[in-house]
Amino acid sequence: MSGPLKVALLGCGTVGSAVLRLISEQAGDLTARIGRPVEVAGVAVRRPAHHPDVPAGLLTTDAAALVTRDDVDLVVEVIGGIEPARSLILAAFAAGKSVVSANKALLAEDGVALHAAAAKAGVDLYYEAAVAGAIPLLRPLRESLAGDQLRRVVGIVNGTTNYILSRMAETGAGFAEALAEATELGYAEADPTADVDGFDAASKAAILASLAFHTPVTAADVHREGISAVSSTDVARAAEIGCTVKLLAICERVGNGDDGSVAVRVHPAMIPTSHPLAAVGGAFNAVFVEAEAAGQLMFYGQGAGGEPTASAVLGDLVAVARNRITGAAGQGPTGYAALPVRSMADTPTRYHVSLDVADKPGVLATVAQEFAQHGVSISTVRQDGHGDAATLVIVTHSAPDAALSATIAALRDMPAVRDVTSVLRVEGLS
Ligand code: HSE
Repeated sequence: MSGPLKVALLGCGTVGSAVLRLISEQAGDLTARIGRPVEVAGVAVRRPAHHPDVPAGLLTTDAAALVTRDDVDLVVEVIGGIEPARSLILAAFAAGKSVVSANKALLAEDGVALHAAAAKAGVDLYYEAAVAGAIPLLRPLRESLAGDQLRRVVGIVNGTTNYILSRMAETGAGFAEALAEATELGYAEADPTADVDGFDAASKAAILASLAFHTPVTAADVHREGISAVSSTDVARAAEIGCTVKLLAICERVGNGDDGSVAVRVHPAMIPTSHPLAAVGGAFNAVFVEAEAAGQLMFYGQGAGGEPTASAVLGDLVAVARNRITGAAGQGPTGYAALPVRSMADTPTRYHVSLDVADKPGVLATVAQEFAQHGVSISTVRQDGHGDAATLVIVTHSAPDAALSATIAALRDMPAVRDVTSVLRVEGLS
């Protein structure tokens, strides 16, 4: 055993302060597990006065100087966002330091270039905390499942939206009311855009798809829809057919051989209450993986919060510290498959549609004809009510998403259809 490994911590918010505390509280165990003590060399923050709990001698506003300091061995980046995080990480690599990051937005935008820079410098870039907080997920995808062929990765990877949708299902509340409650209780941020509009989940989907399919995927490749248009009617309609509404991140391999591609999307969808993801309530996250040999796997746990996210950061810290001692660098993701990313228009999906119609002879036939003209096959039809208050509830078979959305547009223009009251995609129905 020789001297301590010194860590530069960039950012000291909820996650950073939990990292700092756990490094101190678990110093003995970390030393035993790594083979050398871990010490914090400095903590870079914007406003030192806001961090009275951090020893003043550790605080600095000069993150760029901290990451290149000779006595720093490893860098932990928990500031988030694209800049200055990217420049600081690249500077750390150039100075020979490995980096642990929790930065999903950066990894989803620039993962390939960052991994290339890490490989060139012979150092590590680990980011387990970037997706689904405490849940060990990226290492299982990158290492444990490296000998298998993955077919699908479907996740609830945003706790804020899962909390809102869970409350809508439990109470019958609309989106605005459930969002207000989530904000009041601290589940939603003051500006909930990144969560509610699906940006957070899209970044995580890009990272998951890149690892699962050995194909570079960026957040810009991900089709993204948020939950603000999900209505209490959608949630009630889902319950009527034994389903619940979840915001899903869906990464899948579509087609085979020369026609093989990946489709990556984030949108609300109905899933059967018997599906393992349907039971994931409140702010929890879960990811369901389907692989050729392994079959179905489920990862579940806390996807946010200081301590859960710090747990994932510390796991990575131990890994990169061990590599540092042995002089090795872990292999980054491989992008050798380089599969094309399929457009949403071409991605096969299924829709659940509710229509208010006049209950007259021939209406069902005209509606069915519209589906047929767009090449969309109907799986089930149900009529509720009669007379002036009839509702048709239609679930389709799988069809290209563009054909389904064109069908809905045409239905909205049909004289026989008074209103299209609910349209949601359906996942996981047999
Ligand atoms: N804001 C995210 C969520 C957690 O609501 O799950 C951080 O990715």
